Amino acid sequence: MEDNHATPMPRIGDKAPEFKAITTQGPINFPADYSGSWVILFSHPADFTPVCTSEFMTFASMEKQFAEADCKLVGLSVDGLYSHIAWLRTIKEKIEYKGMKNVEVNFPLIEDITMEVARKYGMLQPGESSTKAVRAVFFIDPKGIIRAIIYSPLSMGRNFAELYRALVAMKTADAFSIATPADWQPGDDVIVPTAGSCGVAKERMENKEEMHCYDWFFCTKKLPKETVLKTVLK
Ligand code: BEZ
Repeated sequence: MEDNHATPMPRIGDKAPEFKAITTQGPINFPADYSGSWVILFSHPADFTPVCTSEFMTFASMEKQFAEADCKLVGLSVDGLYSHIAWLRTIKEKIEYKGMKNVEVNFPLIEDITMEVARKYGMLQPGESSTKAVRAVFFIDPKGIIRAIIYSPLSMGRNFAELYRALVAMKTADAFSIATPADWQPGDDVIVPTAGSCGVAKERMENKEEMHCYDWFFCTKKLPKETVLKTVLK
């Protein structure tokens, strides 16, 4: 389907596009209001829908965990403010799901009836839906730079443990100048930057004390879980 409102999609490394919006927690000026902290801006297709309800209950239940890692949450859908308020009240008053009940969504949920924000962030993907935002997740760092983007289709609820893992992995990579291997969790070995000279490559292959090298370009070292958590958590 043709998209008549095509805007360039923000990319990793870009400054987070600015906007002002009305939310369930009052007006916000994004990303300026979040400067100095990490923030996750995420979209969902519609209020009063089952997958989104399961997602909001899960994310709201983890809000404290994200806050302890200095990360705030901001949601968005192209519904209006009163729909948002009614939906969040229903969640709190009526829905019990997987042991979660009385769940209060305390993070802001943006009303975006004009779709201005959804367009700016590439959340409208007409091949999937021209009237609803897809499930987009933007990780924005304390300097307002987009550091990771995850998109999912309407039918698939997101894995919020993975969003938390991604946040911790990025903060760990920043703090220790390392990279994290597949499926990394705090306490697992981390990847040291690849040797930039033949001398360093040789040294790494010969010195087996500090690092474990699978080959000269793929070396890991220990990074204890307590060290990671002390750094990543506020
Ligand atoms: C849902 O959240 O359940 C949903 C929303 C839009 C399309 C399909 C599912």
